[in-house]
Amino acid sequence: MRKRHRELPQIVVLSGAGLSAESGISTFRDVNGLWNNYRIEEVASYEAFCHKPELVWEFYKMRFLQLKDVIPNPAHYAIARLEKSFSDNLTIITQNVDGLLSIAGCQRVLEMHGSLLRSYCNKCHTRIPTSELDLSLPVPRCTKCGGHMRPDIVWFGEVPHYMEEIQQALHNVDIFMVIGTSGVVYPAAAFLSLAKNRNAKTLGVNLRKPQNLVYIDEFHQGKAGEILPSLVEKLLKEYL
Ligand code: OAD
Ligand code: ZN
Repeated sequence: MRKRHRELPQIVVLSGAGLSAESGISTFRDVNGLWNNYRIEEVASYEAFCHKPELVWEFYKMRFLQLKDVIPNPAHYAIARLEKSFSDNLTIITQNVDGLLSIAGCQRVLEMHGSLLRSYCNKCHTRIPTSELDLSLPVPRCTKCGGHMRPDIVWFGEVPHYMEEIQQALHNVDIFMVIGTSGVVYPAAAFLSLAKNRNAKTLGVNLRKPQNLVYIDEFHQGKAGEILPSLVEKLLKEYL
């Protein structure tokens, strides 16, 4: 059971690929984004995995191995700082699968699209950290049953993780902050309008205007790593 402080506002943060862009991780839909080099339907659906698991694994191995060389940026640390002060009054939702928010010190992150660091067996559902898989195989195998392992990534057509917790957080939200997401992938793209319907104040930080800009009360255009630290400072000053 989460303990909430009654005087403090309930804050929900939703982040997307733009949060990790300054750490050197490609976004999906920008110039040179991942979806320029790979076709979504070939690597991000269960059908694709059943049809061409080697290609799907090539994509996720490449992204998993890249994590060795990246570190959180000031935007990740700013969110961790917010969590330290707002504790259970803050819910962190991320579409990112890189684990950088946790490395930055965030204790509770709702990784709604899963994580590159985790994998599970497509046959017996045994969970194995991706770091413990034999990644030299075109399709890593389950150590229990020999079945094909798959990354714990929520693909198109699958239900995101933590939907209940997210719904609950959106029901009580006072301040909704959306960072580095283009606002085109659902259901995450709808959280902003849901928060707005709950009369939350909505803040946005993004390099370009997102698709759902109309629901943002206060939009800060620019890089998350440059804008977020001072925005968090402002919130801390205002409420603590
Ligand atoms: P996108 O690539 O669609 O959007 C990234 C957004 O971040 C864009 O609006 C950029 O303008 C912005 N951006 C880029 N650099 C930034 C920076 N330094 N600071 C702030 N903003 C910056 O990525 P997402 O919206 O996260 O799903 O994509 C949502 C989902 O689509 C992903 O989780 C992934 C993808 O298909 C799955 O793989 C299931
Ligand atoms: Zn298995």
